[in-house]
Amino acid sequence: MRIHTVPTQPIAGQKPGTSGLRKKTPVFMQPHYLENFVQAIFDGTGGAAGKTYVLGGDGRYFNDRAAQVILRMAAANGAAKVIVGRNALLSTPAASNLIRQRGTDGGIIMSASHNPGGPNEDFGVKFNGPNGGPASETVTETIFAVTKTLTEYRMLDAQDVDLSRLGSSTLGAMAIEVVDPVADYEALMASLFDFDKLRALFAGGFRMRFDAMHAVTGPYAKAILEGTLGAPAGTVVNAEPSPDFGGGHPDPNPIWAKTLMDTMYAEDAPDFGAASDGDGDRNMIVGRHAYVTPSDSLAVLAANATLVPAYAGGLKGVARSMPTSQAVDRVAAQLGIACYETPTGWKFFGNLLDAGRATLCGEESAGTGSDHVREKDGLWAVLFWLNILAERKAPVTQVMADHWARYGRNYYSRHDYEAVDSAAANALMDAVRAQIEGLPGRAVAGLTVEAADEFAYDDPVDGSRSEGQGLRVMFEGGGRLVLRLSGTGTEGATLRVYLEALENDPERMALDPQLALGDVIAAAEAIAGIKARTGRGGPDVIT
Ligand code: G1P
Ligand code: ZN
Repeated sequence: MRIHTVPTQPIAGQKPGTSGLRKKTPVFMQPHYLENFVQAIFDGTGGAAGKTYVLGGDGRYFNDRAAQVILRMAAANGAAKVIVGRNALLSTPAASNLIRQRGTDGGIIMSASHNPGGPNEDFGVKFNGPNGGPASETVTETIFAVTKTLTEYRMLDAQDVDLSRLGSSTLGAMAIEVVDPVADYEALMASLFDFDKLRALFAGGFRMRFDAMHAVTGPYAKAILEGTLGAPAGTVVNAEPSPDFGGGHPDPNPIWAKTLMDTMYAEDAPDFGAASDGDGDRNMIVGRHAYVTPSDSLAVLAANATLVPAYAGGLKGVARSMPTSQAVDRVAAQLGIACYETPTGWKFFGNLLDAGRATLCGEESAGTGSDHVREKDGLWAVLFWLNILAERKAPVTQVMADHWARYGRNYYSRHDYEAVDSAAANALMDAVRAQIEGLPGRAVAGLTVEAADEFAYDDPVDGSRSEGQGLRVMFEGGGRLVLRLSGTGTEGATLRVYLEALENDPERMALDPQLALGDVIAAAEAIAGIKARTGRGGPDVIT
């Protein structure tokens, strides 16, 4: 087997976004595209020589081919060993866990998360560091800098590795270990939650529907829920991962998981419903006739954490991304623990978790997690909820009603305008930015602006500063409007408008969120002129 040094040229636009490099699959399949980026990962992190990595992905189109390329490149770059999930599959949280359990130098995850997959859809590659979390901004900036000067990459001349069989083999001088993608992850879950209680819950007739959305959590949910915990066969649906996610959009929200929503709002709905995304790090929680927003879910998990073995000793602190609703802040205040507000993206939680400042963290985009790994974790959130329900012996509707009665309700919604002309989206942000300073004290659509700024984050652990993380307008009475442009989109710009209103009146806890947010929605239009600037009559997706 020979190692080639392949001459190449820098490829523009290989800047990792909110979560790794994501592009249309045909872009990733262009000559040298994947290779350049992988070489930049190795070069940007001190070289691969002698290192051990974890490799896996969500099974989307090109996952299998990309895995073989990455293995040949790791071998050519002198890596000592790569631990790969069988058939190159690993959910993102399972990859994070393996990196940590095995003490590796990091891992490469092939995924574009909740974005559709297929020959004309999206693909992505992300590097996670030795703590199991997404590389920090400093590291991704270094990788990006390397992509701009790269002149060659290294490639081993070799046949494909058989990744369908568990066990050890070699590729050139590099060791390869193919592992069961589920086993270590399941062991971790069993160490966190009361599996006996969960078994008893299902044995007692508790009915659940888990929609794996034809994505990577299918095998995990089947093994854990139906296998170990004894939920009836058929509890997990769409459990077979497919390269194009069954032609769907593997994003667990009421829009894309509509069939689950229909099931959960039917007459004979099960007790509990849940879904996860392409790579298994997002979650959707829905009770019988009760959708739980991700922001509320984080708050409920925090408020009930001590019911779960792993968190019985209490939480060190909580963290949420800035656009996430302030529901968890209210729980933290009552518990007397710290609540951190970070920029969007899981990478910002890593330092807080590593430093033991936060135990739970979450984002409004269906991401919830804890210090058990360094990624958000879909199935973990589902098991957390099940453990709480098993202890509280109450339906989800009751858990939510109790929560709002105690803490108030933060009505919340996100309006997305997708594939907007980039120049128009930037002009909109510029126009709002120009108003920010003058907004405080002004009345807009019946609300009074209390404060407004462009969010910047000073990491309390490493002192780094991240600027330009979203425009926010706070209203008197606890309402809030946040505007930012997506960092994960692959087409034009996606404008995200985050809307929040606080309600403390016990009589007004069951309103339609879009109605409860009416004033804030009107204020968003008044401040940002969204319709005129985007040329759209309304949002493409409302969550
Ligand atoms: C989106 C979500 C963000 C999440 C990221 C990766 O990023 O909004 O919360 O961390 O996907 O899953 P965005 O497209 O908004 O930059
Ligand atoms: Zn994801």
